[in-house]
Amino acid sequence: MRSLLETKRIVALNELLTLALLATLTFGLIALIWWLFIASEGVYLGRRTVIWLYDLFAQRYDDVKNFDRIYEHALLAQPILERIAPHRAPLVLDVATGTGRLPLALLNHKQFQGRVIGVDLSRRMLHSAAAKLYDERDRAHLMWCPAEDLPFADNTFDVVTSLEAMEFMTDPKAALHELIRVLRPGGLLFISNRINTKVMPGKTWDRDTLGELLVEYGIAEADLEPWQADYDRVWAVKDGEADPTGARPLGEILRCPCCPASLMVEQRGVWVCELCKGEAKTSTDGVIEMYRLQQRC
Ligand SMILES: C[S@@+](CC[C@H](N)C(=O)[O-])C[C@H]1O[C@@H](n2cnc3c(N)ncnc32)[C@H](O)[C@@H]1O
Repeated sequence: MRSLLETKRIVALNELLTLALLATLTFGLIALIWWLFIASEGVYLGRRTVIWLYDLFAQRYDDVKNFDRIYEHALLAQPILERIAPHRAPLVLDVATGTGRLPLALLNHKQFQGRVIGVDLSRRMLHSAAAKLYDERDRAHLMWCPAEDLPFADNTFDVVTSLEAMEFMTDPKAALHELIRVLRPGGLLFISNRINTKVMPGKTWDRDTLGELLVEYGIAEADLEPWQADYDRVWAVKDGEADPTGARPLGEILRCPCCPASLMVEQRGVWVCELCKGEAKTSTDGVIEMYRLQQRC
């Protein structure tokens, strides 16, 4: 027979073990939630979660990032213009534009005479971009649309960019392929590549893998250079040669996502497909709401 003291000791030990187990489980759960929602920004939970998180934090994005205008000029706009010189009026597509970082950097550059189209799937990030780009709406357009399904014909843009975004795509290969599809032969691709792979296993590319993918998707030459602590900057040129597209108006390049052979025509703030009559309205903040139409195709 166990003594009363011994029984009490066993009960106390059991309680302690239960508490330790509960504490470990709680800590593990908090760490898992932190990793799923903060560290990897929802990417393992699918596109909807990623976009939901960006919508949720859109208003705080610029405060957190604290982009510096001189830095953006020196490391984004200036090298783009140097690489496409003497061309000064390119047609540029910025995919996953967020709050309009790259369009702003280009439009603030005195020598830039082109047109920029920024697309993103977070409507609230675009709303924030729209407020900053409102005065530039003749040469900057924002469109609510996914990176994986761009409503433009092959070989349309002189420059295609995408910064700090590929790793948050649920299918980054499809997105990269799409970026290169709409770039004209001889056009410039400028993307960032996340190199800190510790918190996002399976979602980032090492330099060799990215180099192979670029070649497979039609890139002739690429420079990968260290940029920020977590990112490389990637400059690449699409194989072949074609005349610059130039800063053509949106009405000459915007395709219906449901019938891509057909151009869309603007009629009093609504973009209409002449073939299927599908409509994408321009919202009061100036963003073209293509995604609503894409969901109905
Ligand atoms: C870290 S932010 C980068 C924004 C901007 N390029 C910058 O450098 O500040 C990532 C952006 O990717 C967008 N994004 C994520 N997945 C997307 C997708 N499948 N299609 C379009 N945009 C997407 C998010 O909404 C978000 O605005």
